[in-house]
Amino acid sequence: MNIQAYIVTLLLTAFSAIPIQSHSATTGVPRSPVDFRPGKQSFMLGGKPFVIKAAELHYPRIPRPYWEQRIQMCKALGMNTICLYVFWNVHESEPDIFDFSGQNDLRSFIELCRDNGMYVILRPGPYVCAEWEMGGLPWWLLNKKDIRLRESDPWFLERVRKFEDAVAGEVGDLTAPNGGPIIMIQVENEYGSYGIDRQYISAIRDMLRDNYGDITLFQCDWSTNFLDNGLDDLVWTLNFGTGADIDSQFAPLREARPDAPLMCSEYWSGWFDKWGANHETRPEDEMIAGIDEMLSKDISFSLYMTHGGTNWGHWAGANSPGFSPDVTSYDYDAPISESGAATPKYHKLRHMMTRHNGGNPLPPIPVQTAVISIPTFTLDSVAPLFDNLPPAVPDTSFRTIEEYGYGYGSILYRTHIPAIPDGARLTVTDVHDFARIWLDGEYVGSLDRRDNGKHLSLPPADAPATLDILVEAMGRINFGRAIKDFKGITHGVSLTVDKAGMTDTLTLVNEEVYPLPDIPHTYAAMSTVTAAAPNATGRMQPGLYRGSFVTEETGDTFLDFSTWGKGLVYVNGHPLGRIWDIGPQQTLYMPGCWLRKGRNDIMVFDITGPRATAVAGLTAPVLDRLGNTSGHTAANYRPLPDFDDTTLVAEGVLGPGNGWKQVDFGAATGRILVIEALSPHDSGSQEAAIAEIYLLDNEGSRMPREDWTPRYADSEDTATANRSADKAYDLQESTYWCSAPGSGYPHIIAIDLGSRQTVSGLQLLPRADSGAPGSVARYRIRLIDETE
Ligand code: GLA
Repeated sequence: MNIQAYIVTLLLTAFSAIPIQSHSATTGVPRSPVDFRPGKQSFMLGGKPFVIKAAELHYPRIPRPYWEQRIQMCKALGMNTICLYVFWNVHESEPDIFDFSGQNDLRSFIELCRDNGMYVILRPGPYVCAEWEMGGLPWWLLNKKDIRLRESDPWFLERVRKFEDAVAGEVGDLTAPNGGPIIMIQVENEYGSYGIDRQYISAIRDMLRDNYGDITLFQCDWSTNFLDNGLDDLVWTLNFGTGADIDSQFAPLREARPDAPLMCSEYWSGWFDKWGANHETRPEDEMIAGIDEMLSKDISFSLYMTHGGTNWGHWAGANSPGFSPDVTSYDYDAPISESGAATPKYHKLRHMMTRHNGGNPLPPIPVQTAVISIPTFTLDSVAPLFDNLPPAVPDTSFRTIEEYGYGYGSILYRTHIPAIPDGARLTVTDVHDFARIWLDGEYVGSLDRRDNGKHLSLPPADAPATLDILVEAMGRINFGRAIKDFKGITHGVSLTVDKAGMTDTLTLVNEEVYPLPDIPHTYAAMSTVTAAAPNATGRMQPGLYRGSFVTEETGDTFLDFSTWGKGLVYVNGHPLGRIWDIGPQQTLYMPGCWLRKGRNDIMVFDITGPRATAVAGLTAPVLDRLGNTSGHTAANYRPLPDFDDTTLVAEGVLGPGNGWKQVDFGAATGRILVIEALSPHDSGSQEAAIAEIYLLDNEGSRMPREDWTPRYADSEDTATANRSADKAYDLQESTYWCSAPGSGYPHIIAIDLGSRQTVSGLQLLPRADSGAPGSVARYRIRLIDETE
């Protein structure tokens, strides 16, 4: 949000804020058993038609002292239900050690919902996606290296059963048939975007049935794939976002089950941000029009997110194909901001929702948390990384951090290399996720998994030298098949040297590792000295920076880290999250409830080193300022090599409108897929847009896309939005590649498939929005060859 919008929000809020008293004042959820089930074209609650107006909130993303304020904010929007995920990995951080206390007190959160007159939809996974580390799965599942996650792997199912039993042990008596607020429970999550496996889905359903008895169970999926895993005895709901054509989204469900009640189980209010790309927003008018349309048709919905909150500490996930780690803020451009404030979107939504409240006024907006500023202070002490390494663990292999017994944080691998001439090339396969490399203590470069970075040219060394590779794990992938995401160096390291026209490749043997798990002990063991000034490159040394600041008043604030590098921040022991100067997020949300009057302690573990150690508490967040993102924009694509008609595999005209289009072309081989968009369906359209592309193998099955990278686009709409070429294969049907506004036909998008592939066809999905804007009519498809 920009400053003006923020001030408008604060003013609007100040005028409309009326304190809400106690819980009981707003109750509306009976404490006696009530029947909730699907009826004919409507859900039935206590025998009467009921439209679910749900607000999605995630309790681990909200400081506990603020839970009730956030629930009341949703209530004041006219919502009648809170929809929530249960994140397995926060509750069972070690096998069989369950934690449902404090910030993890699921039961208290659900009771608070009830006490504030809200029903609850429970989504206990086991997988939740949600831009949360590994989609909510605990990292220690990877201790069984060949585990088949989200499948009928016996050990996976055994662990799921223990977790689901533990959750049910906490909240099983809070279901509607027991007089509690939980009206529906979700089975798994969008399984259609993972695979087809009714046996596995049935196993999860059976566990929930055993634990919760006669309660309404449902599945959520997309309009294009809900039939793939749909079980006859479950309610089917669909997920889609702002701008979607609601009738066409529900058309296949209406056809499959003409009498079923309709529900959009995730109506996306905005979208999540990834490091190095523009801040995502979605137009408020379109969002509100969609909800208005659903309510006017008695369609139930859950607004995902109504309030997003924060990915504290190391909990942010990452998207795939490719590797796109998510930022710390989960603001989501939702109506309630990350810090719980009412945004302009909130007020407009509330205004519309008033019309669907049976002529009654909506509950008042609760009091907003005070916002404070904190004058700039500096962190003057540092524990330099290389002076504070933990005891070395001797080893000869490059192993992942899971094999050293931890799941989050960093690791330093140390080995020696022989003397090398200029131009020697280091290859690290694969870096998960960000490596900094030093030769004899001199920093020589970094490798970034986002760019598929594996190779680094080393400077010459006259004598054998010490090679240090520090690898920082970012969030595990939370979407698609790549959730099995080991961290550290996953395979090995080699050195390639050209000598007298000969190429020699030497496989390096590891010597020792220094584990740096993201746990308090790692940092407590480090001792600080006075921080030194920046070096010639303008950076101070990497390490743990410590300092303190004083506040007379407590209140929410936004700590500005724009002069820092990359790492993790803690205040008074609370993990505030990751920072990275590439943006777009430059500030971290500092909840006032975690501040103390007087002295507050702060530490920053910065692996690249800051440019300056200044921090200030701002009164508004900065979530939309990109730093240096070279390599991640259309302007940086290399031109495509010349191609001729031998590369043409298909040409023709794609059908109009929404929905998948397929082109079959027999067997064709090549590494780079080139799609030329020659004309639009709408003759007035200047832009081409593609939501998803799949290639088909010679059996006609969709091929994996994990190794795909964007190779070229004639332009991308990235000035204000995030419509880059990688969005055409990001497994998200609601996001899309779009050429720059007004760019004019023809357009080209090209994708590097990672290696030569033989393909028999292509499937293409235009934008999901009404009328499929930017849909391509005349096309040419080519496969060209190019060596790395
Ligand atoms: C899907 C998932 C959610 C979340 C959204 C995107 O709908 O079910 O968990 O990942 O996408 O924000």
